[in-house]
Amino acid sequence: MGYKVAVVGATGNVGREMLGILDERSFPADEVVALASRRSQGIEVSYGDRTLRCRTLDHYDFSDVDICLMSAGSAVSKEWAPRIVAAGAVVIDNSSCWRYDADVPLVVPEVNADAAAGFRKKGIIANPNCSTAPLVVALKPLHDHARIKRVVVATYQSVSGAGKEAMDELFAQTKSVFTLEEPESKKFPKRIAFNLIPHIDVFMEDGYTKEEWKMVAETKKILDPKIKLTATCVRVPVFIGHSEAVNIEFEQPITADEARDILRSAPGCLVIDKREPGGYVTPYECAGEDATYISRIREDATVENGLAMWIVSDNLRKGAALNAIQIAECLISRKLIQAKKKAA
Ligand SMILES: NC(=O)c1ccc[n+]([C@@H]2O[C@H](COP(=O)([O-])OP(=O)(O)OC[C@H]3O[C@@H](n4cnc5c(N)ncnc54)[C@H](OP(=O)(O)O)[C@@H]3O)[C@@H](O)[C@H]2O)c1
Repeated sequence: MGYKVAVVGATGNVGREMLGILDERSFPADEVVALASRRSQGIEVSYGDRTLRCRTLDHYDFSDVDICLMSAGSAVSKEWAPRIVAAGAVVIDNSSCWRYDADVPLVVPEVNADAAAGFRKKGIIANPNCSTAPLVVALKPLHDHARIKRVVVATYQSVSGAGKEAMDELFAQTKSVFTLEEPESKKFPKRIAFNLIPHIDVFMEDGYTKEEWKMVAETKKILDPKIKLTATCVRVPVFIGHSEAVNIEFEQPITADEARDILRSAPGCLVIDKREPGGYVTPYECAGEDATYISRIREDATVENGLAMWIVSDNLRKGAALNAIQIAECLISRKLIQAKKKAA
């Protein structure tokens, strides 16, 4: 017997990707329902070769749903996740709403799949931020080998990480630059076309942004609370694919060659690291791909036991939809959930 899966936020960037990935991976679903806001009532979304008609979250009865994949923002998750759990479904949430709750596991299956079993306390599992997921996939095997002390990361985050309206804004602004019109900024605080914005999410009291704080808190929760991390998160005029320039300081010695070998056999990682023009991966190439790509691995001689590298991944896939579906697969393969008996 297969599962009934509800996708909340099915018209969004992440929700649409979820529907595509459920189909690609032949997820054992007997039924998939697409849910969004009232604005999208009746809108058609693709699920492989099939078309699903969107229904409204407000009036949906979750009593025979087994798994709910949510990607409709924190406010919707805060209100709806407990109600959906009360109806008997497990919620895998993409927003930041539950990530820091001690009773909610924050899971990247390649790194801390065992933590998924902790979902029973609240019935919710959280999916990390789109920059944290690929970072911890790359850090985990290196941490196991040489213990990470400190990480310094600068991100180059695509506009799709801010939702579908943000992608439309980059497109419209780019067009207006070529037609000599004044680009209009609504979603971003400054023009994003042919520009960079060193500010994602709100500012905190210490001068860091919430996006930067999330990378610190989430890396500690998923990988190791002892790891010190500092981040600068930057929005760039790229449609899909987040990139990260990462400097890592280890407790024990590790060479670039050793790191390359370790990462080559690590789950979820793909090393493309030829020291020649084009011998590295860019965000354009990672769009639509599942792997966390690692390039430019080299020793950082400014610290003892230091490495530098370049990480790229599709933020809508490993950074969001793919990771959520891998969590659902993990719940099934570890027999942590069972499909409910459905009315005939
Ligand atoms: N994009 C990423 O890389 C990424 C990565 C990790 C996590 N996330 C998180 O995933 C969530 C969705 O991101 P996104 O990029 O897919 O955003 P998006 O493209 O703006 O889509 C938002 C989705 O939420 C739905 N929604 C909004 N308000 C709703 C309501 N009151 N009831 C039901 N559905 C509602 C929208 O439906 P309508 O079309 O009907 O408005 C739409 O389907 C956010 O929490 C985001 O932080 C995103």
